[in-house]
Amino acid sequence: MTENKERKYSLIEKLLFPSVRVNASKLTKALVDKTIVITGASYGIGESLTLQLASTGAYLILVARTKDKLEALKAEVASRGGKAVVFAADLRNEKEIDSFIQFLLHQNKIDYFINNAGKSIRRSLLASLDRYHDFARTMAINYEAPVKLALSLLPKLSQSQGHIINISSLSVLMAPAPYWAAYQASKTAFDQWFRCAMPEIHTMQVHTTSIYLPLVKTRMISPTKIYDRMPAMNPEHVARIICHCMLTKRQVCKPWWSFLGELASVVFSKTSRRVLSCRLRTIQKSKGRFLLL
Ligand SMILES: NC(=O)c1ccc[n+]([C@@H]2O[C@H](COP(=O)([O-])OP(=O)(O)OC[C@H]3O[C@@H](n4cnc5c(N)ncnc54)[C@H](OP(=O)(O)O)[C@@H]3O)[C@@H](O)[C@H]2O)c1
Repeated sequence: MTENKERKYSLIEKLLFPSVRVNASKLTKALVDKTIVITGASYGIGESLTLQLASTGAYLILVARTKDKLEALKAEVASRGGKAVVFAADLRNEKEIDSFIQFLLHQNKIDYFINNAGKSIRRSLLASLDRYHDFARTMAINYEAPVKLALSLLPKLSQSQGHIINISSLSVLMAPAPYWAAYQASKTAFDQWFRCAMPEIHTMQVHTTSIYLPLVKTRMISPTKIYDRMPAMNPEHVARIICHCMLTKRQVCKPWWSFLGELASVVFSKTSRRVLSCRLRTIQKSKGRFLLL
């Protein structure tokens, strides 16, 4: 497996996404012999994180559906002197997630649970009328799977005074957006669950971090063509942020400018709803796709 060279940022991207440095020897010192579970390790952010952790001496447990990708990643980790074990599973499938949990419970210890596996769908309601499964599937991977994994791992994480890191989306902190109902509802559901559970998790001596990400250049956003021209982070950059959070144990991590969006979402909520409805009506009219009730 060859590691792609990190994409260079445009000027605006440099401003929006300031670089993060992680001291490699500090990271190794902190993570050597730690057991780290990474869900969604086969592509994108999970893959970049795995490669970044490969030479720390941590024991990596990697899960995703694409077995070949996981096996190649495991070989790459080994070639960098690291240790990884892979588990191919569809975390939406009850039997498969249960056997993964059994596998985890048989480990000596678990120090980190990186909840990263996720599925995004951008689709209008008109195109979703016969696609209830989109909503069920996003809930299954973005909400139900991490709840089940977190509940099962908490006793082990508590024993090791471990750390749960949730890879969330900045969109959950912003005004709801049309076409994103399936994704945003499911990511918000887990974010809310995690925030509610946090005080109890802390009493179990387990650290928590929520990382709210803007756009990241991975295969997740590639079907949405308008994103090609929008500022986006590199997955390698996100991986460094996750490593930084592993070291600092900070509870919340979001871009420095997110407060502007959060504020605007509240102050201009009515205006933005009106503008969006108007825009959607124009688009639907132009496509001749009006649903008359
Ligand atoms: N990219 C962005 O703009 C962005 C922005 C904000 C937040 N995020 C969040 O970042 C996380 C990682 O996304 P990414 O951008 O790296 O996307 P990605 O490249 O598509 O990676 C998603 C990972 O999740 C795994 N996965 C998906 N469904 C699964 C299932 N049913 N069972 C097991 N594993 C599954 C995929 O592996 P397999 O296909 O091999 O199963 C893959 O390894 C997600 O939680 C996403 O919501 C991304």
